[in-house]
Amino acid sequence: MADLSITVDGMRFPNPFVLASGPPGTNGKVIKRSFELGWGGIVCKTLSLENDKVHNTVPRYGKYYHAHSTAKDQVIGFQNIELISDRPFDLWLDELADCKREYPDRMLIASIMEEYDRDRWIEIVERTQATGIDGFELNLSCPHGLPERRMGAAMGQDPAIVAEVVGWAKEAARVPVWAKMTPNITDITVPAKAARGAGADGISAINTILAVVGIDLDSFRPMPTVEGYSEPGGFSGEAVRPLALRQVMECARACPGATISGMGGVETAEDAVQFLLVGAQTVQVCTGAMLHGYEIIQPLCEGLEAFMDRHGFATVEEFVGKSLPYFTTHADLVERQRAAKREKAGQSNRDGMWRGDISAETDSLAAN
Ligand SMILES: Cc1cc2nc3c(=O)[nH]c(=O)nc-3n(C[C@H](O)[C@H](O)[C@H](O)COP(=O)(O)O)c2cc1C
Repeated sequence: MADLSITVDGMRFPNPFVLASGPPGTNGKVIKRSFELGWGGIVCKTLSLENDKVHNTVPRYGKYYHAHSTAKDQVIGFQNIELISDRPFDLWLDELADCKREYPDRMLIASIMEEYDRDRWIEIVERTQATGIDGFELNLSCPHGLPERRMGAAMGQDPAIVAEVVGWAKEAARVPVWAKMTPNITDITVPAKAARGAGADGISAINTILAVVGIDLDSFRPMPTVEGYSEPGGFSGEAVRPLALRQVMECARACPGATISGMGGVETAEDAVQFLLVGAQTVQVCTGAMLHGYEIIQPLCEGLEAFMDRHGFATVEEFVGKSLPYFTTHADLVERQRAAKREKAGQSNRDGMWRGDISAETDSLAAN
């Protein structure tokens, strides 16, 4: 029977499914519930030292629906303008310690964010790790609200700042540190490599993609609408999965040796396996759990086990990154295709077959 457990940076996950930082890990109570239901780990909602600087709006979510009539009620994307946790830091410390006491064998990763100040980063790392959490995820990637305070994506888009902040966290951390990347950048591998160079154990990718989820055609107001106005927010869910897969694949190729926690639009085991195949050791889920409930952990585990049994994989490590060697350049694809055609033509000639006009026409169509 397939073994779903995986050890990443010394942390042993009973399965590779981790709830991503966001509403699913918004307090100790729901974190415990996720452990009870079988999640391998959880990254808590991002904490900072001072919650009184965090002001959320209502509404702060906007849904993106499938456009075709057969699935009108199907949400395929999700936009949020939610900030990091607005709960007091000391309360969080008590709850994290309590979760670890009750579930010592489940992986609890603390997502943290602070201002551009070494002392503050050292303080948040030291005080948080005293709770017994298993690892850190540095939120260098929240795309809305926080960048106005020069935090989140404002840090993650600047490789020099990424290196500096990761360096500060690593100075104080006695547990593994993952750096969470923003996809809102031309080349995600630049900050990923900067984080690695500064000692990050792992790369988490991706945070949400900046988007405008829609405009109300009666009021002309963008959504989600707060007192008639809005701002671009972070887009997540099924619709972002192909974009996330690409970014995770690129991080894995650019940072050999780094562990990768992949996410973006995962709802099923088949979605998750694709992230493992492009190099992730763990797969995080946020929007999928918000839309379908924490209970999706069961079909995720069952589906992963079925996939492993079908291919005869005994452990998850056996297929992590298995699809990476099949990514290449366009020039190489052209060369491979030419070689395949030469091979086929040679075969046809050897078989004494006439290729004819139809085949020439197909070739010219393929060339377009
Ligand atoms: C409502 C909401 C709140 C989020 N809050 C955080 C957060 O506090 N910290 C963080 O690092 N990521 C946050 N995220 C981003 C998710 O962790 C994840 O990176 C992103 O949503 C892509 O994964 P998904 O498609 O499974 O949701 C949030 C996402 C959503 C939808």
